[in-house]
Amino acid sequence: MSANDFFQAKVEGKRLSMVTCYDYTFARLLANSSVDAILVGDSAAMVMHGHDSTIAASIDLMRLHTVAVVRGAGSKFVVADMPFLTARRGMGAALDAAAEVMTAGAGAVKVEGVDGHEDVIQRLVQSGIPVMGHLGLQPQSVNAYGGFRVQGRHDDSAREIVRRATALQSLGAFAVVLECIPACLAAEVTGSLRIPTIGIGAGSGCDGQILVLQDLLGMNPDFHPKFARPFLDGAQTILDAIGRFDVAVKDGSFPSAAESYS
Ligand code: KIV
Repeated sequence: MSANDFFQAKVEGKRLSMVTCYDYTFARLLANSSVDAILVGDSAAMVMHGHDSTIAASIDLMRLHTVAVVRGAGSKFVVADMPFLTARRGMGAALDAAAEVMTAGAGAVKVEGVDGHEDVIQRLVQSGIPVMGHLGLQPQSVNAYGGFRVQGRHDDSAREIVRRATALQSLGAFAVVLECIPACLAAEVTGSLRIPTIGIGAGSGCDGQILVLQDLLGMNPDFHPKFARPFLDGAQTILDAIGRFDVAVKDGSFPSAAESYS
């Protein structure tokens, strides 16, 4: 899979699946899965480091996670997030940030928003760096929204999302993530673009879907956004395993003779 294959998938009407990943162990598992691509999301700041937003993700952190994921990801296409403000501090800073994750092995970058950094997106594309856009709920703007809220519910904001999606396509983005917008709006955007849309909380009318891996695996029983279907009760499964280990240690059955060196 490459950025070009995203276009082809849309032409052929094939749905694209993506998941986030932040570490080598899970990347190795994903390398053997059928998902189309991996995102090293700046959600690493929340999922792996316990921050309450993605704003804490620095470029050093993104590089570290990208290096680890790429080491395990085999031939999977890896997209890495451009973290908070890196597209807004001028061209040099944006190119430096993109260079950090691309030299770490990513095959593309994801950039939130478009207004005010059109030049950066265009320069990245012209520099041979595939760019994935991200519209709707842009988590790096959580403070402007006053929380993680569905976007595009009103006519004006819906039109703005359509306009920005078209702008991203014109600037050369190869795909766009649509996060937390009404399903009918996401379907409209999807129908109006040649590049694929990848939805999260944006209904089934997108060209593909992405979920945070830990949400998909049900690792956090306290976090239940309605769009994040857990495909496993990961938290309970892991707790059960740790419980069995604890019992085996305490009743003396672990380690057995076969698990010991003579
Ligand atoms: O950082 C992230 O995990 C993301 C996805 C929600 C698309 O941007």
